[in-house]
Amino acid sequence: MKRAGGIVRWAVPVLAVAALAAAASAQDPCIDCHAAQELDEAAAVHLRQFRDSAHGAAGVSCADCHGGNTSTFVELRAHKGVLNSAHRDSPANHWNLPRTCGRCHDAEFQALQQSAHYPLLERRVRAAPTCRTCHGSVAAQSLGVEGGLQGRCNRCHGPDADHEVAGIPGEAGQEALARGGRNLARLRSLGQQRAGVSRSVLRLRDPSKRHEAADALFAINDSWDEAIEAGHAFHWSDWERALDAMASAIGELRSALEAGGDH
Ligand code: HEC
Ligand code: HEC
Ligand code: HEC
Ligand code: HEC
Ligand code: HEC
Repeated sequence: MKRAGGIVRWAVPVLAVAALAAAASAQDPCIDCHAAQELDEAAAVHLRQFRDSAHGAAGVSCADCHGGNTSTFVELRAHKGVLNSAHRDSPANHWNLPRTCGRCHDAEFQALQQSAHYPLLERRVRAAPTCRTCHGSVAAQSLGVEGGLQGRCNRCHGPDADHEVAGIPGEAGQEALARGGRNLARLRSLGQQRAGVSRSVLRLRDPSKRHEAADALFAINDSWDEAIEAGHAFHWSDWERALDAMASAIGELRSALEAGGDH
């Protein structure tokens, strides 16, 4: 079911018994009212990206990033506590974003704090990579180093980096970015392989084999989490170690499935 969280928050108290029937079409008042406004181009794109994002699908609310009251359609009340993102107290303010996103994604937030870039964010260096740099403001995307991201990294790591806080400029910088790109490609490929073996495990009929295979899947998921954390900390060697562990765990599970296959 789409948007479960948002629906539950306001539909249950208001509609009580009718809630279940209404749930399929009901949305949260922030979205409904904003969708009914004449939006300028940027606001329309923001709304569309949100609706198409994993956040829109998972029932994350506008209020989770902007504050406000999701239990009323009265604009003044709904906007209680909502500030323009330019305001330093808005949770959607550029400098507050890692913490705002981190309320739900603590592991990535912790990892970013360990990265060489975090001191730059603390010094309010605009160009320094933050959640929004790679995921966009509503996390509708996940940019790779090879995509539009490279240009942003190049500001400090590129051949001509002349930024006052330049990180690892020149050839070493390019090598660091290339290595990051390779790791990311591998992460994505292993993600697909993980989905493949997960499907095979679900098809196992023998309960004890399924149980054993599920344990192996947990180990694969642990390596995935380690890889995600190392990537967000920009610790490339740790990232590679986690990817290696994940690759061999997937390989072992695959052999076990092929050897014992009852499907
Ligand atoms: C009844 C209609 C309505 C509801 C409900 C509503 N909004 Fe709005 N919102 C508007 C309108 C209209 C504007 C633009 C006019 C303005 O600047 O006040 C706006 C502007 C905003 C802005 C920009 C503020 C700024 O200073 O630039 C944000 C952010 C926002 N809304 C978030 C929310 C959130 C979050 C919720 C739910 C908690 C919400 N809105 C609920 C109608 C609504
Ligand atoms: C995951 C966090 C997140 C979610 C969810 C989110 N926004 Fe935003 N929103 C931002 C950020 C960050 C900005 C700052 C400008 C930008 O990056 O686009 C912003 C900007 C805006 C603005 C422009 C005014 C301003 O304060 O900068 C409006 C209006 C707005 N959002 C409304 C909404 C509405 C309505 C929803 C739900 C449909 C929503 N947002 C969901 C993060 C979010
Ligand atoms: C209220 C909690 C909440 C907040 C705040 C939040 N997220 Fe999420 N996020 C979720 C949920 C729920 C999902 C979808 C389920 C999942 O994949 O875990 C998700 C998914 C994601 C994904 C995976 C997207 C995909 O396509 O699979 C990314 C990336 C992400 N969020 C980044 C962010 C960023 C960046 C911010 C801040 C701008 C943010 N989130 C704020 C709850 C939140
Ligand atoms: C340098 C770019 C970059 C930055 C900065 C960044 N991310 Fe990510 N993030 C990624 C990449 C790349 C992935 C891997 C998913 C993919 O794109 O295939 C990812 C994955 C995620 C996921 C999904 C994890 C999973 O298990 O699938 C979440 C959630 C997330 N990021 C949240 C955040 C948050 C919160 C921040 C800020 C604290 C942040 N990211 C900062 C690039 C970045
Ligand atoms: C605003 C400048 C700036 C930008 C933009 C920037 N970096 Fe950095 N980066 C730095 C600085 C400064 C360091 C620390 C260098 C040092 O002290 O060794 C660093 C270090 C690194 C390291 C080494 C980390 C470690 O712990 O050894 C990697 C890898 C890295 N950056 C990758 C990236 C990637 C990928 C991007 C693009 C998403 C990026 N950087 C964008 C400034 C920047």
